[in-house]
Amino acid sequence: MSLITFSFPTTTLFGAGSLKELPGRLTALGIRRPLVVTDKGLLGTAAWRALTDALGEVKRDHSWFVYSGVHPNPVENDVREAAAMLRGHGCDSVIALGGGSPLDAGKAARLLLKRPDFDFAKFREVPDWSGLVPFVAIPTTAGTGSEVGRSSVITLDATKRKAVLFHPELLAKLVILDPELTVGLPPKLTAATGADALTHCIESYTCPAFHPMCDGIALEGIRLIIESLPKAFQNGKDLEARGKMLVAAAMGAVAFQKDLGVVHSMAHPLSTICGMHHGLANALCLVAGMKFCAERKPGLYRRVGIACGLDVVKGSEAQADQRTIAFIEEFLGELGLNTKLREHGVKSEQINTLVAQAFEDPCHKTNAVPVTAEDFHGLYLSVL
Ligand SMILES: [Fe+2]
Repeated sequence: MSLITFSFPTTTLFGAGSLKELPGRLTALGIRRPLVVTDKGLLGTAAWRALTDALGEVKRDHSWFVYSGVHPNPVENDVREAAAMLRGHGCDSVIALGGGSPLDAGKAARLLLKRPDFDFAKFREVPDWSGLVPFVAIPTTAGTGSEVGRSSVITLDATKRKAVLFHPELLAKLVILDPELTVGLPPKLTAATGADALTHCIESYTCPAFHPMCDGIALEGIRLIIESLPKAFQNGKDLEARGKMLVAAAMGAVAFQKDLGVVHSMAHPLSTICGMHHGLANALCLVAGMKFCAERKPGLYRRVGIACGLDVVKGSEAQADQRTIAFIEEFLGELGLNTKLREHGVKSEQINTLVAQAFEDPCHKTNAVPVTAEDFHGLYLSVL
């Protein structure tokens, strides 16, 4: 057996109102001049006001600054601008507030602060990641789990493809999961981001690496999402459901240190080429990806079905898969996530480009079963 690293290192503060703990936690971390990284959509929201109220207490003795230029699916320039502000204001840390995009851009900006000559195109060649300024992550969506992840996904200028910067030094020193910050998320985004978390749990659990700790976390994440996502979708103010979704999203990202699969390889090009929201892209591809895997590896989804609350302990492998996949299809449908790609502007003439990028994407290399370019072609056609 090859050597495997199990790593669950992030300090996470959870609970309604937990953001109020921020000033004391910053002091304990020795943070005096943070740069807040976020996007324009967040400015003016209740989540933003909650953060500025909390930081207002810090301001008496210290200073804080704001970079709010992060795009959905962040690009190199977002990271460069944030790093320039870090440098220009002599900041000693990054606090990222928002969905996965501000969190990923904020994480990566610290690397550019340390290495101004950093070339995104050569991100695999960074010799030394040590000494990055501390990072505090405060998610306002329950989906990517980027707050507990050691990766940052940035779209490259040169190729328009997503580069996954990956290193344990990128991890946050502190994560604050405050469900009050997610109550303003509209139902559509609640559903799409939640579907991303569900896909993380399902793909990481079924990825064949030996990682029973992640497997347990992924299965419990599935159970929480099945229980809580419909409630958060129907009533955004349900703090218990919002809280469980925040934890489940973090669990999905902890679990996918194990790896992901074919669905994420399909979803990444749909964002870079077609501009589709990452969670929506996963949601529209998930059932097709599950059917593809189950046909080649019967019984793959039995324990996923059990986590969903289905009585699939007995019966054939094929029956367990079929019932589980049908349940997930219906579950997504009730969240309004049962549309086709063409309803979101994807054209049949884009399929070949999508296939080429999906095949190059690393996620499917760890899928439950091998995936060829021809397979991707069939998969995209089936959801077009
Ligand atoms: Fe994802």
